[in-house]
Amino acid sequence: IPPVPSFRGIPLKYISLVTLAVQNSLLTLIMHYSRVSIPPSQSYSAPTAVLLNELLKGSISLAIAFARINRVTPYTSDTTQLPLTVSRFWHPTKILLRVRRLGREVFSPDCWKLSIPAILYVIQNNLQYVAATNLEAATFQVSYQMKILSTAAFSVILLRKQLSASQWLALLFLAIGVGVVQIQTGVSDTSKASSLLFHETSMNALKGFLAVFAACFTSGLAGVYFEMVLKNSQSDLWIRNVQLSAFSLLPALIPIILSRPSETGFLSSLFENFGAWAWATVAIQVIGGLVTAMVIKYSDNILKGFATSLSIVISFLASVALFDFQMTFTFILGSVIVLIATWLYNQPGRNPSTSRLVYVGK
Ligand code: C5P
Repeated sequence: IPPVPSFRGIPLKYISLVTLAVQNSLLTLIMHYSRVSIPPSQSYSAPTAVLLNELLKGSISLAIAFARINRVTPYTSDTTQLPLTVSRFWHPTKILLRVRRLGREVFSPDCWKLSIPAILYVIQNNLQYVAATNLEAATFQVSYQMKILSTAAFSVILLRKQLSASQWLALLFLAIGVGVVQIQTGVSDTSKASSLLFHETSMNALKGFLAVFAACFTSGLAGVYFEMVLKNSQSDLWIRNVQLSAFSLLPALIPIILSRPSETGFLSSLFENFGAWAWATVAIQVIGGLVTAMVIKYSDNILKGFATSLSIVISFLASVALFDFQMTFTFILGSVIVLIATWLYNQPGRNPSTSRLVYVGK
């Protein structure tokens, strides 16, 4: 049995799950605040944020992949014959050899497989901004839990995961819980009062829910597809991340190219109103992408859903404090149902969820 990857004795699986829960709460709040705390005419470009996210994530993954390349591909005859003077890490010949091996890994014959989750994630990341702009932070967070449903469906179809009766029941509860939260939102639409936010009244709940619904679909499909590619091959996680970011660049650029040209010039229009909150949103998303990849590697997509619903509790409390969010009975009821469903889903049953896929990479 291979050793469980850990950091200071704590399994990476738990570290990554807890980090993801905290990251999710922060992202929901900061993304929402970055969009609604300023008048719509002064808001920053979401496609620019999505592109920056991919560029930063790709660069970090590339640096990690470069540092790990000796572990990923064993030394070949061309490197073992090097004289001792070039054994230092930073020697140009060694760097060149590393770059060559990295290039071979990144441009592997199966790299095209990452184009599918890459396109889906770019669509999802853009939709997230639409949802965060049109829904209250906590409402967005709870509705976004529907991705557990789509993830379970795609896990059954693509990964042949087997779910127990109680897990199917938990999925039903989840759908009901999300439905109850949505009823509450319909009512609260008419009673908006927030001195902190500028365009709370210009929020469009229907548009927000449609965006969340579509984002849940792409989240489930992209996550399960990424898990399938990762666990079906020997390739390194960081190489896969580089391939994912590389394939994301073109779809992330399309909305930018199609957007209306501004008189201020291309670059300055890209970064128009791109202030500290926009950069904070991008930074938290970059961390989220990297942690998500680790969660998919060390546990799986369905457990990832559990971590993100834990973050609901944190976001609730922060929403009340920061955004003057009015909690009603139906909102609390719906959220409690979502949390109970998540707990039920993770109970070990007689037929626990099993995947035929085990991670075999490095
Ligand atoms: O909501 P969900 O958990 O599906 O969000 C996944 C997020 O993680 C997306 O923003 C996606 O771009 C990112 N991701 C990533 N690298 C991966 C897998 C997901 O950056 N390998």
